[in-house]
Amino acid sequence: MSSPFFGQNFISINQVKTKKDILDLFKRADFMKQCVEKGKLHEPLRGKSVAVLFYQPSTRTFSSFVAAAQRLGAYVTAIHGMEEFSSVSKGEDLRDTVRSIYETTAADLLVLRHPDNNSSQVAAEASPLPVINAGSGKLEHPTQALLDLYTIYEHFKRMDSLHVVMVGDLLYGRTIKSLAKLLGIVQGNNRITFVSPDELKAPSELVTDLKKVIQIEETSNLREAVADADVVYMTRVQREWFEASGKLDEYEKLKNRFILTRHMVSQMKKKAIVLHPLPRVGEILEEVDDDPRAKYFQQMRSGLYVRMALLEAILMKRS
Ligand code: NCD
Repeated sequence: MSSPFFGQNFISINQVKTKKDILDLFKRADFMKQCVEKGKLHEPLRGKSVAVLFYQPSTRTFSSFVAAAQRLGAYVTAIHGMEEFSSVSKGEDLRDTVRSIYETTAADLLVLRHPDNNSSQVAAEASPLPVINAGSGKLEHPTQALLDLYTIYEHFKRMDSLHVVMVGDLLYGRTIKSLAKLLGIVQGNNRITFVSPDELKAPSELVTDLKKVIQIEETSNLREAVADADVVYMTRVQREWFEASGKLDEYEKLKNRFILTRHMVSQMKKKAIVLHPLPRVGEILEEVDDDPRAKYFQQMRSGLYVRMALLEAILMKRS
């Protein structure tokens, strides 16, 4: 049976419909992990071509998509800094750019990161090839949500009955939105506590929608939430969005509101974990890194395995 992802765009985490879809993908991610760790070649995408276009800064997402496609044997055209160095700076619109990349590279799949919320949708409509959303505006980062959940699943060997505490910029941050929706799809008696300053609370429509499927609490008491968490998911305050709206002074006021210290982590459950999509800019002190609960470095590696699994699922029909 082929994967439900086969031949499809992957634009929103809402496209993941069942826990079985997730588990099947994670099984393939486990396989990818074994291949990488044992140095075993697995190149089902030989002869296929993947284009990776980034219009916003990135370290992890960009490098792991490129590495994932290359490890699977694909030809890769990867362009970073699109906003500055491509014809976009001459005023070309996203549709024409996507069409051009398709023509010039004969790509079979496009990976896109872009500051507009609906960018992946626009690209998907303009292109005859599947599009993977590698982060769109303030709204979605679906592959990050999958790798976050994979990290959680690897650690707890389950994805239910978990208390996930999401901390920081819940207004502008896109990772927490996709992960919260994914936990809503999994359900399984999970609950989420959102911890943020009032100014950076999760959008109320999102909270209303989530409350229909999963238990949600909102607080500004980090200490209390952390002590009761299975997963503490820290995020940075997103400076670029404050800058874009001329509110850098507000950013300065908010950026250090929630900082995770070694002492706070020592009060967490023994089996709990700390995640962060990274980059961190002070919200997890370095002194936390040595604690066995700090899993944000391993979390990055999950990105390679999950993205390999997803690329394969979209491009290869398996029987
Ligand atoms: C995140 C992003 O780009 O949304 N980074 C990532 O992909 N790992 C988080 C962030 O930039 O704060």
